[in-house]
Formats: sequence, C-alpha cells, structure tokens
Amino acid sequence: MAAAEIIAEMWAVAPVIGPSLLASNFARLEQEIGRLEEAGAKALHLDIMDGHFVPNISFGFPVIEAIRRSTRLPLDVHLMISEPGKYIERFRKAGADLITIHIETVDDPRPLLGEIRKLGAVAGLTLNPPTPIEAVEPYLDDCDLLLVMSVMPGFGGQEFEPLAYDRLRHLREIGRRDLLLSVDGGIQEHTIGACAEAGANIFVTGSALFSHHDYRQRLDEFRGLAKQHDNKTVQV
Ligand code: DX5
Ligand code: ZN
Repeated sequence: MAAAEIIAEMWAVAPVIGPSLLASNFARLEQEIGRLEEAGAKALHLDIMDGHFVPNISFGFPVIEAIRRSTRLPLDVHLMISEPGKYIERFRKAGADLITIHIETVDDPRPLLGEIRKLGAVAGLTLNPPTPIEAVEPYLDDCDLLLVMSVMPGFGGQEFEPLAYDRLRHLREIGRRDLLLSVDGGIQEHTIGACAEAGANIFVTGSALFSHHDYRQRLDEFRGLAKQHDNKTVQV
C-alpha cells in the first residue's frame, strides 16, 4: 500500500489500536499475528531496540521480513536505534510501511523524514518524555505521524506518564488536521480514554493486550473506550 493510502486508511478506521508485538509470544509469532488479524487489528507495531539508544535489544530485519510474509497489515516500525539513517532503506525493504525515528537520534530529522517519504513509507517522528516538546514542533509539517512516548522507551509493561496528555493536546492544537497522533507506553483501560480525548488516534498497546486471553474482546474494549472519548474536532 502506498503511504497516502495507509494514512487515509488509518483515519478511516481510527481509533486504531496498534498491538506492540514486543509483548507477544515470539515462539509462535505467526499464530499471534493470525489471532490479531482475526481479532480485527488494523496495524502492527514493531519495536526495534539496539541496546545503545535504549538499554534493551529486541529484533531486527529477519524477524520483520518473516512478519511481512505472514500478514498484509500495515507494519508500524518504531526505531529506538542510534544512527537510524544507516538503516532506513533496509527497514523499508524488510517490509516497514510506517517508519518512526526518535528526535534524540538526529540533529535535523528532515533529511531522514524526507527519505522515508521518498521510499513510499509513512514518516513518523517521536520524542522521549524528558525531551522538550519544542524539539519536534519545527518538524510537524515534515512528518505524517507524531508519536508521543508515554514511557521511557526500552521495555513494555511500564506505567503511563501523564505528561503525555498535555503533549497530545498541544500537538493536536498546533499540528495539521491530518497529522496522525500516536501514543505509546502504558496504554490500558484507565489511560486510553483520556488519550483519545487529548487527540490521539493511534494507541500502541503491548502488555495490556497480550496478557489477555481474548484479543478480540480486548481490542473491542479499547477501541470502544477510545471512540467514546474521541476528540470530535479532529475528523478529516
Ligand atoms: C516501549 C515500546 C512500546 C511498548 C509498549 O519501549 O516502544 O511499544 O512495547 O508496551 P506497553 O503497552 O506494555 O507499555
Ligand atoms: Zn513502540
């Protein structure tokens, strides 16, 4: 799918719950993906960690390629890696449809966001909780998606940092109407509604989804909560 189609699709099906495969059973990845598809997932979130930018290592190209072969769902690849510019093309080739880079890893994100778009993928930019919001503000028109981290990246299962609410609200106010706003970390039944109200339309969920035996029930519950609190001013 072309980037413009993916963006349109994300808006059409929003609120989108993006399962973070980090919390899935890696020994049964294909079945997990099948279960998520059957449960109505509309995208998959892939957390790439290099043990340098974050103090953890997750998985790389062969795993992304294997995931790509087993699903047609858009792959939302979150790069928690130093020097992302070295690998953008390979991530795209491996099957990434959305590629998000961290502002902390680049001096100026514009060349990389431009490269992601040129390669036909959706360009995302994100920031860690301690990074001032002003760091991403100049680049809102250079990306298609802004990801607000609501935990310090590196691990699943952490507690949501409430500063993310103000960040989402602020970005929704100053960003273009069609800017996709995503939130990642600590999303569960107590936090998702307020994130939706603040303007988020993509909600990454790891532990709160995979710890549940019935993915459909959980996805429906989360989607329902997000919908109920949907910020009505952000329809495009
Ligand atoms: C954190 C990752 C998240 C994480 C979310 O480094 O970017 O995607 O896996 O997991 P939960 O929902 O458990 O916080
Ligand atoms: Zn993530």
